[in-house]
Amino acid sequence: EAELIAIIEGVKRRMGSRLFLPAHHYQKDEVVQFADATGDSLQLAQIAKQMTEAEYTVFCGVHFMAETADMLTQAEHTVVLPDMRAGCSMADMANGYQTERAYAYLVDRLGDSILPLTYVNSTAEIKAFVGRHGGATVTSSNAVKMVEWALAERDILFFLPDQHLGRNTAHALGIPLEQMAVWDPINDQLVFDGEDSDIRVILWKGHCSVHEKFTVGQIEQFRLTDPARQILVHPECSFEVVEAADLNGSTAYIINQVKQAAAGTKWAIGTEMNLVNRLAKDFPEQDIVSLNPFMCPCLTMNRIDLPHLAWSLEQVERGTPVNIISVDAETTEYAVLALERMLDRS
Ligand code: 13P
Ligand code: SF4
Repeated sequence: EAELIAIIEGVKRRMGSRLFLPAHHYQKDEVVQFADATGDSLQLAQIAKQMTEAEYTVFCGVHFMAETADMLTQAEHTVVLPDMRAGCSMADMANGYQTERAYAYLVDRLGDSILPLTYVNSTAEIKAFVGRHGGATVTSSNAVKMVEWALAERDILFFLPDQHLGRNTAHALGIPLEQMAVWDPINDQLVFDGEDSDIRVILWKGHCSVHEKFTVGQIEQFRLTDPARQILVHPECSFEVVEAADLNGSTAYIINQVKQAAAGTKWAIGTEMNLVNRLAKDFPEQDIVSLNPFMCPCLTMNRIDLPHLAWSLEQVERGTPVNIISVDAETTEYAVLALERMLDRS
């Protein structure tokens, strides 16, 4: 470990401002300690300009985030992902072929006043699809604002790929569950009980495999055994969990809630394990535990570790970067439209 740390520190020192190393809040501490900037998905998209000032960005996060960084930075800038296996199971739940087919079906059945929005946790291909159809990306930090915008623009919102963020956000804006349909991409089916004319929101049937592990049962257990503990969850959790919690919000919101809380505040937090552990360590005067007693790591985020980071940085310094993330020009053109519609409103 000491050897790997020395390699990373050495490359960072020698490359100086030619290298930029951002890290998502879900990354391991062993990686975060070297980050030039940390942030949630929105903050990491907003710092693209800082990345462009360097020659290389070594992105410590998952594949869709590195794609976004590549698309928002200029062509001469190189973005590298230390391990190509750092994907996102949610982003993998929607592909371009399925999405085009679903949209054609929905327009045929419900008319063309449908605006697609995609969570940034999606591939560049999906962002480009959304950009082409007048829509935008959203993150958990600005979902309310973006869903409000979409519903003002057109009659029906088509929200990809996280059904939970879509449902929780639309419901927070006053849309009843009875006006939300679900698109099932496996069976190519619109799941809805009422009249088609009632549909205001169509939710893509995707989810986060980390946040789905938080349950109402875990909340009830805390209510019973430790009622003073506040339950704070991410809106990628299910509707039932968000309803049963005391507070819900994005990664930035969760961090701010803890930052502002008084000493002695007790929390059970429903989000990724590395972030919960870091909050517990950074705020020892509070009592912070995971809502799920078995913790919830994002296995793909955790693929970025000291050995991969050290190896990746060595290759970059040698001028032979490996795992370059480069999105083609046409996809970038449309995906950037979707990203800019979001960034302009954030
Ligand atoms: P945010 O960073 O937008 O809160 O998203 C959480 C997440 O799941 C990242 O993959
Ligand atoms: Fe994807 Fe969930 Fe991991 Fe985020 S936490 S990268 S949404 S699997």
